[in-house]
Amino acid sequence: DQTRQIAQTLAEFQLSKDQLLEIKKRMRTEIQNGLGKDTHEKATVKMLPTFVRSTPDGSENGDFLALDLGGTNFRVLLVKIRSGKRRTVEMHNKIYAIPKEVMQGTGEELFDHIVYCISDFLDYMGMKNARLPLGFTFSFPCKQTSLDAGILVTWTKGFKATDCEGEDVVELLREGIKRKEEFELDVVAVVNDTVGTMMTCAYEEPTCEIGLIAGTGSNACYMEEMRNIETVDGDKGRMCVNMEWGAFGDNGCLDDIRTEYDRAVDENSLNEGKQRYEKMCSGMYLGEIVRNILIDLTKRGFLFRGQISETLKTRGIFETKFLSQIESDRLALLQVRAILQQLGLDSTCDDSIIVKEVCGTVSHRAAQICGAGMAAIVDKIRENRGLDHLDITVGVDGTLYKLHPHFSGIMHQTVKELAPNCDVTFLLSEDGSGKGAALITAVGCRQREQEQ
Ligand code: BG6
Ligand code: GLC
Repeated sequence: DQTRQIAQTLAEFQLSKDQLLEIKKRMRTEIQNGLGKDTHEKATVKMLPTFVRSTPDGSENGDFLALDLGGTNFRVLLVKIRSGKRRTVEMHNKIYAIPKEVMQGTGEELFDHIVYCISDFLDYMGMKNARLPLGFTFSFPCKQTSLDAGILVTWTKGFKATDCEGEDVVELLREGIKRKEEFELDVVAVVNDTVGTMMTCAYEEPTCEIGLIAGTGSNACYMEEMRNIETVDGDKGRMCVNMEWGAFGDNGCLDDIRTEYDRAVDENSLNEGKQRYEKMCSGMYLGEIVRNILIDLTKRGFLFRGQISETLKTRGIFETKFLSQIESDRLALLQVRAILQQLGLDSTCDDSIIVKEVCGTVSHRAAQICGAGMAAIVDKIRENRGLDHLDITVGVDGTLYKLHPHFSGIMHQTVKELAPNCDVTFLLSEDGSGKGAALITAVGCRQREQEQ
């Protein structure tokens, strides 16, 4: 009976092919709303124009600084790009911590910290006086009116610094640099991590016209036809659109598949009611869904001898790396128990079997709904181009995609099933989004010279 009740609880997470097709269809509707002249203002999937009008062509050249803010790590990078027959990219980078107090303090503190890290990096490289052009990977929704202006729409994930929403983050960075009075930089581009990732991969593989992040957060971008982007003037060519698909469902359109555990995770988050799709399929929240299910199963007496420990009450204990370990097929149950022990959870062998099953169920659904979203994109691009069949490459990054033993495979399989007329290749970004941000900065610099 216990087994049956546990199975019943987890059954809510199992989606049929019809349900997945329905998610794909709803994503398509939201894409349309985000792009449309009369619908975009109220749209939940914002489809933000990026002013990136092409993928790299190998002619990019120069030395650039890049920042990479918003994923697991904050990085400052120096990227040296050489064009020509033997094109090369050389990168140097340093990782810096952003303490939680800074992520959720004042905007001034956050940008002072960022500028402090840039200063440290320039000292380290011996480049304080170079006045380099800079590309700013800023992995949050920004309303752009040009390559070098981006108004933060809203914070997502673990960030909540004051006085930033509604402000141009490029200006906030410039002001921070001025306050420090130590060095000068030329901020040329603000870039979403999906866009940086797409560009990084497109430099090696020209068929890459989609970027996907399955990490702390979840999001995608792709090259859309200008004629379909009714929020930007002009009909010629293409522009990369940052979808901000994490907000899919914020109008209630996914409520029929959300479970009580999804709602609990949402209620306990920094941004209740927002990023509902992201909260079902990204690294920052999967562990929280698992934890909420485990609490419920414990309350019902099926786990941990019915005892809810302080550890189990602790937010964020199940990081992506732990989920990934627990689900690893090479791990014997004894090792699963060891991991739970490490986390401070005393488990029996039976407990560890259940925990592993819960993790598997939650990550399986995550990979499937992420795949359903991707299927909507590739079919849209195929239709845009009037093709019966599309071959396309997706540049991907993110700890969930990279570390989890099953996520990528299930996601790929789902895209195949839901978009049978597309052959989709997934290309893992080895160099992060900073390289792509530097490539965009190179194009931005060239445009500026031409305008002068
Ligand atoms: C990194 C990119 O490799 O992946 C970042 O350089 C991106 O720009 C990140 O934000 C996403 O993954 P995660 O798991 O760190 O959020
Ligand atoms: C969040 C951000 C988005 C970013 C994604 C992945 O969804 O809003 O801008 O691309 O996380 O890091």
